[in-house]
Amino acid sequence: MTEDTPNDPQDAIDSQSKRRREELDDRIFEHSAGDEQEGIPFVGAGPGNPRLLTVAGKELLEDADLVVHAGSLVNSELLDEYCGHAELVNSVGKDLEELIPLMRDAYEDGDNVVRLHSGDPAIYGAALEQMDALEHEGVPTYFVPGVTSAFAASATLRTQLTLNEVSNHVAFTRPQGKTLTAEEDHISDFVEMGDVTTCIYLGTHAVRDTMDRLLEDDHDPETPVAVIYHASWPDEDVIVGDIGSIADKVEEAGYRASALVVIGDAVTGAGYERSFLYGDWANRGSSDANETETQAGDD
Ligand SMILES: C[S@@+](CC[C@H](N)C(=O)[O-])C[C@H]1O[C@@H](n2cnc3c(N)ncnc32)[C@H](O)[C@@H]1O
Repeated sequence: MTEDTPNDPQDAIDSQSKRRREELDDRIFEHSAGDEQEGIPFVGAGPGNPRLLTVAGKELLEDADLVVHAGSLVNSELLDEYCGHAELVNSVGKDLEELIPLMRDAYEDGDNVVRLHSGDPAIYGAALEQMDALEHEGVPTYFVPGVTSAFAASATLRTQLTLNEVSNHVAFTRPQGKTLTAEEDHISDFVEMGDVTTCIYLGTHAVRDTMDRLLEDDHDPETPVAVIYHASWPDEDVIVGDIGSIADKVEEAGYRASALVVIGDAVTGAGYERSFLYGDWANRGSSDANETETQAGDD
């Protein structure tokens, strides 16, 4: 914490970054994820269905006096169900200069404050900058994880994002646009790798451009693609196609936001091989638990 320019979030971010480079935060070793902690929790609301909120998140919301939430990305049913007596503030359209004093002042007045992000706050959540700005002003913060939309999408698709002999890796990514330059857009590289399931956040409006680029890069037009709109919400919609066909289908459906784009053979769940996990190979036995995990993989 420093005394200088307490209300400038960029100063706070710079100062917290400097501290992070110099020393690890003691709380890393004092607490586990899910522990009750002092401060403002940054809670993952999950993908939409209130039942996909964690127990820890639900308890924190039920005790909250002020909930600052991510607007339309958080299902209002969840707010109605769990934020009984809390004041609700939509963060959309508010900058750090407004949000930080709001949360800080409420916390310093003794209120239970919850910052509610959609999905998991660690994925395209811009949580850390808020946490740094609060910490810089002496307000402790911590994460409470949530179910990210890629996991809801894979559950809807009834598949795994990693699948033996089909997909060994998962990429959480976003397409080029205002935030990423063309050079920073790695979607084509992930698809090129062949055994990666590519989960594109923040890319519903850009499905046509993304698929056009993949075709220009000579990727197989029949590579499976699914677009899951509002995964786990009552109006969830699933559009299934391939690199060559999905853009027309998404345009026809009219979705421009709030969908996850999944590319790769794991989308269909076809063609995988049984894992080693439940066969003789796994039972050959090793006294070294870490070695067993490395070899056998999933549980
Ligand atoms: C700002 S990011 C936040 C992601 C969030 N932190 C998470 O872990 O899911 C918003 C993007 O997440 C995706 N998204 C969020 N909720 C979704 C849902 N229920 N179904 C499909 N995609 C969703 C969409 O791609 C949307 O553009």
